[in-house]
Formats: sequence, structure tokens, C-alpha cells
Amino acid sequence: VSFLVERAALSIYSSRGDHGAKLLRRGSHSPYPLYEHIRRDGDLVRSKLQLYITPSYRWATQILRDPRFGVSQVSASDGMLIPLPPRPPEPVHPIEDSFLSMDPPEHTRLRKLVAPWFTPRAVRARYEQIERTVSGYLDELSRRSQFDLVPHFADRVPIQVISDMLGVPAPDHERFSAWARQVGPALDGVHSLSEQKRLDGVIAELHTFFSELIAYRRRSPGEDLLSQLVHSEVDGAPVSDRDLLATAGLLLLAGFGTTLNLIGNGALALLVNRDARERLLADFSLAANVVEETLRHSPPVHFTVRAALEPVEIAGTTLKPGDHVAVLLAAANRDPKVFRNPDRFDIMRRNAREHLAFAGGVHFCVGAGLARMEGEIALRELFRRFPALRLDGQVKRNHARLLPTLESVPVSLVQ
Ligand code: HEM
Repeated sequence: VSFLVERAALSIYSSRGDHGAKLLRRGSHSPYPLYEHIRRDGDLVRSKLQLYITPSYRWATQILRDPRFGVSQVSASDGMLIPLPPRPPEPVHPIEDSFLSMDPPEHTRLRKLVAPWFTPRAVRARYEQIERTVSGYLDELSRRSQFDLVPHFADRVPIQVISDMLGVPAPDHERFSAWARQVGPALDGVHSLSEQKRLDGVIAELHTFFSELIAYRRRSPGEDLLSQLVHSEVDGAPVSDRDLLATAGLLLLAGFGTTLNLIGNGALALLVNRDARERLLADFSLAANVVEETLRHSPPVHFTVRAALEPVEIAGTTLKPGDHVAVLLAAANRDPKVFRNPDRFDIMRRNAREHLAFAGGVHFCVGAGLARMEGEIALRELFRRFPALRLDGQVKRNHARLLPTLESVPVSLVQ
């Protein structure tokens, strides 16, 4: 998957020749002007790297839901599907070896194991605990006049929630979030040997960490997801260590950077859009709208990749088995055919919830309900507690193409 994601990122950014790079270099680093250029080229664009790209909401939705597309690692040669060589057994990779990178029926079997932890009821049961966590952080912050919203708030909420769910002991939270912070931005490719080495090191540390935690939970089970997983069965057999490790790592990576960006992007949007913020301050039940509009306007995950498993016609083009399509979720969320004035951040937008921030089809984000609840509590309580919060310095984000991540949002509480 990393290979595919990297190829997709390169395709997206080279699809307009030098133009993509130039657009990014020009000041804002926003990829959205580039996405609009791709949109002008058509609903399905072929890149020089022979990968298709779709910025269209209609085709994105269709591809994500179509069982003739898959995610398992395939390459193409004259329309024949060729599986990529198997990956080394260790260290287990939290994305490439997890069910996110599998097609049914393997995908279905493993996803079923964690699904009960994400039902509306299971999510709702975490509400008070998350509210207390958020409140505790805001108490600490209320003693300061300035702070950075990313490390002191947006970063802490999701790591606490996912640690509670997985049963990661409190003293390990710091290490745990440092790992997630390093792997996320590297998903669409590393740029040097030393970066690759660092990344390999982190994956190996994650492997060791979860192996030890799994061994511990076998001996001394708690109420957490890992404890339950080590005692679960798939088709009458215990879950393999490989699947346990990959699933735990996937939950960390999928649940952390994404939710951090939801909280960070939402807070930032409220800091710079006066109208939205005043509406929220007048009616805090609008926090749910803020979450949906943030996910539409600035989705944490910008694209995903699918491979045709058999011939399939998309936007008038017949794809061969093994052809890959980069589905530009972030561009689909601003498709003017579906969202009016798509660049505008409008928390009163009626159809914001139709966004594709959580993708769709069988890989639709399993944690969507949890992320929505975390985002809603965090943004509502932040602005309830600090209605006069204001931006106080330069916002920084890394320029990862899959998961562009906020690094710093300095704010002050001074009236
Ligand atoms: C899958 C986005 C939060 C767990 C996905 C996918 C997207 C996504 C786009 C599909 C990827 C693909 O098809 O290539 C997000 C966003 C989040 C978020 C935007 C926050 C705002 C979470 C949380 C968790 C989680 C909190 C769990 C704690 C997962 C898992 C998958 C997934 C396990 C794989 C599902 C599968 O392959 O069946 N997420 N996610 N996500 N997400 Fe999330």
C-alpha cells in the first residue's frame, strides 16, 4: 500500500507537469488549486505514471462502493493481475499488513473482530469519559495565557481515547503518540535513506511494544480491546499474532493523526471564520455541524487508492484489471456539482454530512462515529471554555500529501 500511495501522490502532483509543484511552492502550500486543475482536465485523468485519478464526487463514490475494485497489493501487466511478492514476516506493518490493505473475505473476518467496539452504543458509552478527559486538559490550559493548540490539546485527546480503548498504560502514552506522529506523515513516501531508516526503526519499535502488550494481556486481561482480541477466534482458530499486531497498530495510526487534524482544522476554521464561531457560541448544539463541515472542507485523509480487479467502465473509460485509481477524497468534497460554493466554510450547509472524509464501501472508516464524537466534544468544550480564544502566531503544518498534518496553532486567551 505504501508503494501505491506513494505512486498515487506522485501522480497527483505531477499530473499537471511542473504546475503541481509550482502551485504548492506558491505561498500557501494548499493542494486545492492543484485539485481544481485536475478537475478541469476531467472526471478521470490518466497520469504519466499510468495511474488514474478522479476528483469527481460521483465517480469517487461509485469506485469506493464497487466490489470490482480492491485494495490488496496487485500490480498489472497487460491486464493480468500479479500479486506483489509477500512481505517479510517481521516487523509487522500496521497499514500494509492490516485489514485496511485486504479485500474480502479476509478483510471482513478481521474487521468483524473490532466492529463491536465502534457501534453507536459502544461509542456512546465513552461519551462521559471523553468529556472528562477534555475538561481536564482545558482546566490545565486555563492557567496559561498562551498555548499551542496542537501539542496541548488536539494531539492529546485522540491519543488518550485510543490508549484507553487499546489498554495502553498511561506511562507509555508519550512514546505511543511520538510513534504515531512519525509514521503518519511518511505514509506517502520518504525522501531519503535516513528517513527510511528512522521509519523502519519506528515500525520495529511499534512491533516490539505491541508484542509485549499482547503477551501481558494474555496473562493479565483487562477490559480493553486488545485483551478481548487475544481471547477471540476467527473461524474457530485464535487470532494470529500477526493479525493482532497489525490490527493494534492500524487502530493507533488510523485513529490518531486523522482525529488530531479534525480537532485542529475545526478549531482553526472557527478561529478564522468569525461568522461560524459566533453561531457556535450562540448555540453549542452546532458543534456537530462544525465537525461535518470541517470534514468536508478540510478532510484529514486527502486520497485513497483502489485497483480494478476485473474490467470496469468508469467515466467512459474501460479500466483493465490491475489499473489503479487515486480517489481524491478532498477534491470530491469540493465538487461543485454536489456542494454549492465548495470553498466556503459554512456550518449551516445542509448536505455537509455527505462528504467522503471517511471514504466509503467496505473500508468505510470503522472509527467514524468515535471520531465524530471526539471532535464534537473537543470543539464544543474548547470554545465554551474559551470563547475569546484567538490565533496568536503562525500556523504550521507538514506538507504530507496523504495526511497533511497540523504541527502548530499558537493561540492566546488574552481578551
Ligand atoms: C479507515 C478516515 C478516525 C479507524 C478509514 C478510511 C478513511 C478514514 C478515509 C478509509 C481508508 C481507505 O479506504 O483507504 C478517518 C478520519 C478520521 C478517522 C478522517 C477522523 C476524523 C478513526 C478512528 C479510528 C479509525 C478514531 C479508530 C480508533 C479506522 C480503521 C480503518 C479506517 C480501523 C480501516 C477500515 C477498513 O479497512 O475496513 N478512516 N478515520 N479511524 N479507520 Fe478511520
